[in-house]
Amino acid sequence: MEQLLAQIEQLKKEIAESAVTDAPSLEAFRIRFLGTKGIVKNLMGEMKNVANEKKREFGQIMNEFKQFAESHFEQWKEQLEAGSAAAGPSIDNTLPGDNLPLGSRHPISLMRNHIISIFQRLGFAVAEGPEIEDDFHNFTALNLPEHHPARDMQDTFYIQQNPDWLLRTHTSNIQIREMEKGELPLRIICPGRVYRNETISARSHCFFHQVEGLYIDENVSFADLKQTLYYFVQEMYGKDVKVRFRPSYFPFTEPSAEMDISCQICGGSGCAICKKTGWLEILGCGMVHPNVLQNCGIDPNKYTGFAFGMGIERPALLKYGITDIRLFSENDVRFLRQFTAAT
Ligand code: DAH
Repeated sequence: MEQLLAQIEQLKKEIAESAVTDAPSLEAFRIRFLGTKGIVKNLMGEMKNVANEKKREFGQIMNEFKQFAESHFEQWKEQLEAGSAAAGPSIDNTLPGDNLPLGSRHPISLMRNHIISIFQRLGFAVAEGPEIEDDFHNFTALNLPEHHPARDMQDTFYIQQNPDWLLRTHTSNIQIREMEKGELPLRIICPGRVYRNETISARSHCFFHQVEGLYIDENVSFADLKQTLYYFVQEMYGKDVKVRFRPSYFPFTEPSAEMDISCQICGGSGCAICKKTGWLEILGCGMVHPNVLQNCGIDPNKYTGFAFGMGIERPALLKYGITDIRLFSENDVRFLRQFTAAT
């Protein structure tokens, strides 16, 4: 008993002398003294070892000790609450803020947005489609049936789960999906990522980006196609740009053409970028093939339309003077950061 009393005295002294000034030490105090395995509980448990005639006295002393610890706890708690209310949140509003690093638009996004905004001014709406596509929407509906030799140029990645699924090779799948909806006239611009099974080098990658355009209505003609694309390149490259159309072949258009613009690097006199021709090829286009319209449930005797498709990487390389296409997908922030100013 004597020993216990001395211990209690010692503990009281310790409590009286301690200063609890923050929430963690208040909680530590509570656990140590008042918790379910705390000192007060433990000392109470000593009651059974105290001689019977002393039990009453020990009980009183213990009660007093418990109250002593509790009242200190309450007092510190109140002080802390009052203190934190008075001090307000512990932030110094006068300090200068941390600079939040601002991201920048990816050069491909910049170029895509630029292209879209030009066509939006002509009334084209943005449409998107799936990157994992079925054979019908990527090939067959576009007049590229199985075993068609033009499929060779667009080998891609197939999905093991289902041999009919593949990573789309062009954004032309969106044409089909939009035409299938049956809402005409249709005037859309379709940006997206596309895939090809190609060896990766500075000039080609197994994925890249395209923008597709489609206009279906009554009486749409090749003249509309030319005028629309001419407007586009003038907005994009300036009023002095020259264009030329070369006959070409795409299974989904008839007639088909490729459009070149006068080389933006040498102005048309011939350089390494335009391979001394003075011209740069920028897109494929043509009048939508009647079979394609029919595949989508559109009457080719009533409706006609034009379509075009262009890559985004190549004009971005030209615009920003980038020499390796792989830089676009390496995610090196030193490369990406350079485009902040252009946003
Ligand atoms: N899909 C073609 C390609 O990836 C590009 C293209 C050409 C799209 C002509 C068109 C078009 O809509 O009319 O090479």
